Amino acid sequence: MKITGLNEIRQSFLDFFESKDHYVRKSFSLVPQSDKSLLLINAGMAPLKTYFTGEETPPNTKMATCQRCMRTADLDNVGYTSRHATFFEMLGNFSFGDYFKVESLQWGWEYITEVLGLPVDNLWATVYLTDDEAYDIWKDVIGIDENRIVRLGKEDNFWEKGTGPCGPCSEIYYDRGPKYGCDNPDCKPGCECDRFVEFWNHVFTQFDKDEQGNYNDLANPNIDTGMGLERIACIMQDVESIFEIDTLKHVLDAVVAKAGIVYNADKKQSVSVKIITDHVRAVTFMVLDGVMPNNEGRGYVLRKILRRAYRHGKLLGIEGIFLNELVDTVIEVSKEAYPELVEKKDYIKKVIALEEERFQQTINQGLDILKSYVSELEGQVLSGDKAFKLYDTYGFPIDLTKEILAEDNLTVDEEAFNEEMKKQKERARAARGDQSAWEKNALADTDIPATEFKGYSSLDGHGKIMAIVSEGELVDSIGENTKAELVLDQTTFYAESGGQVGDLGEIVTHDGIFVVTDTQKAIMDRVTHKGYVKTGLIQVGVDAKTEVDEAVRMASARNHTATHILHKVLKETLGDHVEQKGSLVEPSKLRFDFSHFEGIDFKVIQSIEEEVNKRLFEALPVNTEELAIADAKAKGATALFGEKYGDTVRVVTVGDFSMELCGGTHVSNASQIGLFKILSESGIAAGVRRIEAITGSEVFNYLSHVEDKMKHVSALVKGTMEDVDTKVESLANEVKSLQKEIEKMKSKAAASGLDDIISSAKEISGIKVVTAKLAGVQPNNLRELADKISNKVDGVIVLASDNSEKVALLAMASESAIAKGAHAGNIIKEVAKITGGGGGGRPNMAQAGGKDASKIEEALSRVLTIIDEL
Ligand code: ALA
Repeated sequence: MKITGLNEIRQSFLDFFESKDHYVRKSFSLVPQSDKSLLLINAGMAPLKTYFTGEETPPNTKMATCQRCMRTADLDNVGYTSRHATFFEMLGNFSFGDYFKVESLQWGWEYITEVLGLPVDNLWATVYLTDDEAYDIWKDVIGIDENRIVRLGKEDNFWEKGTGPCGPCSEIYYDRGPKYGCDNPDCKPGCECDRFVEFWNHVFTQFDKDEQGNYNDLANPNIDTGMGLERIACIMQDVESIFEIDTLKHVLDAVVAKAGIVYNADKKQSVSVKIITDHVRAVTFMVLDGVMPNNEGRGYVLRKILRRAYRHGKLLGIEGIFLNELVDTVIEVSKEAYPELVEKKDYIKKVIALEEERFQQTINQGLDILKSYVSELEGQVLSGDKAFKLYDTYGFPIDLTKEILAEDNLTVDEEAFNEEMKKQKERARAARGDQSAWEKNALADTDIPATEFKGYSSLDGHGKIMAIVSEGELVDSIGENTKAELVLDQTTFYAESGGQVGDLGEIVTHDGIFVVTDTQKAIMDRVTHKGYVKTGLIQVGVDAKTEVDEAVRMASARNHTATHILHKVLKETLGDHVEQKGSLVEPSKLRFDFSHFEGIDFKVIQSIEEEVNKRLFEALPVNTEELAIADAKAKGATALFGEKYGDTVRVVTVGDFSMELCGGTHVSNASQIGLFKILSESGIAAGVRRIEAITGSEVFNYLSHVEDKMKHVSALVKGTMEDVDTKVESLANEVKSLQKEIEKMKSKAAASGLDDIISSAKEISGIKVVTAKLAGVQPNNLRELADKISNKVDGVIVLASDNSEKVALLAMASESAIAKGAHAGNIIKEVAKITGGGGGGRPNMAQAGGKDASKIEEALSRVLTIIDEL
């Protein structure tokens, strides 16, 4: 059975290459993952570049994909020709240093003639001018009639896109017959007429083009082929235009139905229908892949296409927003290969609907303004500042303005438009000044009010999303996994201040969930919620629920209230000179820096802990009230030196015990803190001490940890928690006495070796010389041994020992030896040097230390030559 449906063709291609041992991978996203040179994936090979260059190893050296692609360079042609599209799918098989020309062309031929069943006589091939190898494969291996092999130049048969892998290529053409042809008797592939359709490009990727334009040889020659799925479907379905193939036709019919027109009755209308058909496919897939409409990069491409389609809807007389509804038909025909479209259908429709609504608000006004500009126009060219006003105020992408003008044969002064864009960017940059990334953006829109904090008494609340900043830019909305900062008009999230870290939690809207990983104060008292979109989308202007993570907030609150109590206890215990110098309140611990002049005794630390815990056991209530600053001070509230306070202040009291000015969040009763434990006390600067402490469940965890350790140690010494200390103590004593014993034994062993040492004495220049290495003997024992030897040997004795890698040396010379010129001090000096040490001494007795035990033998043999040289 002949395969004709677009979805079946795709599957048959992938199945075919799977049968040729290719790894069939599903399409990569339209958004390049790490390729900064590309806005959107534009060919099957684009996501595989690093495999071609060898930077990364592919999962298999043979791969095949059907890749979703976007090309927007010919945007103006879409709708006006039978083949141009922004979105398309590319079938491709790839070899990464595996097979090369023969296999690629042979398999290609097998697929199109045997699987697709294309008639051999209608197939042509082109090769690069000088590529005899490819020419011969077509002629001799595949056996195409030589008349149907055409050599073409670089323009046609050398594939490269910007930098990266590239090379000569060979293309397969389909001959649609003379009725599509021209009058030229020599008409063949390469001719401008419609007769020969190029549909499968086999690139012999041999080079890696660098930024300077050099073609560097790739380590391995590769294969990169690309066959436009829509184009081969045209051939298989024997239709003239891609808009007539089964899947696109289904979408096109839906556009026609929506517009309530008769297709092909009016040329202009048909163009609009085709534009919408192509563009709705493009925007559906772009949104699927996480692109959001905005004014930069690929977001701008999406906005441009979507708005263009929207305007063509208006030209067709479609009222209101409609593209989002057409998404259903795109999904219907594409879901087989892209089931993720079904999963994200609601999301895609929502993002598109929002952008349509946004444009709907300004398009009519913009069109009226443009009309008035045109009526006033002298000449053919609209000025750059007018085009910029349409862009900036009415959301008209420049391409849209150009397209509308082109319908009346008018153009835009694009250079001047770009100049205006540049100026706007500079103005924004200047307004931002030197502030941090976030503040730049907040400042750029001064209408955003200060954020009101509603989180003292409740963790859950609501607020309106006033601004979203993503990658340093203000944006209207953000999609899944996008990192951003949200500003709300009010929030229950506590922003980091007064030493207390920012809250965590979630901001939930009707359309999505934003995970807050930090909360910070920004310029002009706005609060920024930093995090990322977990699901759905988040947009400016909508109401949101603010849900602060209770466990984390409570842990911070415990540590904050405990800090106040600790502050007071320190003043009471150490004296009134104690003043807060710094404070950090995290969910997991608190850190308090204060003025004090000396280290605090362990016993005092224990009493401080005890005092703090007493306040917790008393279950002192924690209250807050707003007071005029003067009243608060009169009441005796502790204010921090050097801190700026407003006219009214928040006073936090813990029973009658502590009263501090504080904006932080606290427990409502000290008993909620549970337990308080100091982990460390240390000095951090002259006169400043630091206490680190934990509360609540952290204390419990700490105690469990200590208990585990104790149990482990008890088990090791075969004791219980009760007697573990006495057991360890007696073990330590035992170790000490055993060590002594060992030393004694070693000395004894050395002594028993004395006879051997004595009998090893040599006579050199009339002096008896004894040298010996005694492993493990302590330096003080060396002396003892040397004395014993000297009782038997009248001459020079040099002993060495190594202990824990250190070397001890001792030399003795008898009176008769001294008389013959020997000098213990001089000998030791020289031999010690050999072992990396130094020392010296008297003529009869000298000691030294060394470092390198491996040199002992060398040092001792030097003794013999020293005596010999006397
Ligand atoms: N990368 C080649 C193309 O896009 C196959 O035509």
